[in-house]
Amino acid sequence: MPNEKVLLCASLILLSQRALSSTMMHTKCRGKFYPRGNNKVIRFSVPDEKVRWAVPFPEYAPVSFTTAGILAGPSFADPDISETLFKPKWNELDGNVDRRSHEGTYEVVDGYPRNKHGRTGVMGRGCLGRWGPNHAADPVVTRWKIENESRVINPVSKKPVLQFVCIQRKDSGEWAIPGGMVDPGEKVSSTLRREFEEEALDALQMTAEERQIVGQKLKDLFEQGKEIYAGYIDDPRNTDNAWMESVACNFHDEDLKGILHKLELKAGDDAKSVKWMDLDKELELYASHKDIVHQVTLQHGAHW
Ligand code: BGC
Repeated sequence: MPNEKVLLCASLILLSQRALSSTMMHTKCRGKFYPRGNNKVIRFSVPDEKVRWAVPFPEYAPVSFTTAGILAGPSFADPDISETLFKPKWNELDGNVDRRSHEGTYEVVDGYPRNKHGRTGVMGRGCLGRWGPNHAADPVVTRWKIENESRVINPVSKKPVLQFVCIQRKDSGEWAIPGGMVDPGEKVSSTLRREFEEEALDALQMTAEERQIVGQKLKDLFEQGKEIYAGYIDDPRNTDNAWMESVACNFHDEDLKGILHKLELKAGDDAKSVKWMDLDKELELYASHKDIVHQVTLQHGAHW
């Protein structure tokens, strides 16, 4: 295929991903209990047909919840909206804090940003630090599964099997992409690499010299990332006024003897385990991560 066609294809996939994200019906943030509330914070039940704000729901009375940890005002969190000195610039880059959504303008109702994907049964910030979008970045690091020096082909789909670096989260125990929050003022490309090194290689425990060696090895791989997704994430921590968004990029090593077949994985920071996981539709992953890794398999023509 000539290059322009490849580019056109890639942009179409990206456009359809963005469209998909803005119409996504969230479900994981409508479970019975809000996480980290000791199963005491019960979400107001929102049936599918009443999720959209445009649909009248006069009896809607969501519980208001923000964890004590967030109310204590850690450095990564916003103050309460009632604080008179707090003058956030919604939908804008507010100093170092990015209050823009990947999905366009969000509404601010009675001073509170409103989740574009609809009702969640909880008001306030829950355990999220920012009002409005809370930005994360997710590196999907992939290689081909090999046996006897060749790619493994799935007998049913007849397609080669892709593997990605997958971590088990300490907070929920679920398997996930080794992503993390974008620090204020941080470039997404730096977050992607930092989170991968911290969670999948335990870089926080390395000496400066070891870190430099690993960094050098990963340099080429991380220079050729491909954006897979940018938008809302159906995260169990979302509320009506605070939600997760992420930019996911794929870093793929095509070389069957390349760096990703030699790298030693070691869980660190927010991860309790790490492993190469085969990509397959039976996978269960945290939040919307399954949709993201599915896109990666489509782009590589891999088994799903
Ligand atoms: C995780 C990311 C995830 C985001 C939204 C962050 O805590 O580290 O991997 O995409 O939350 O769910």
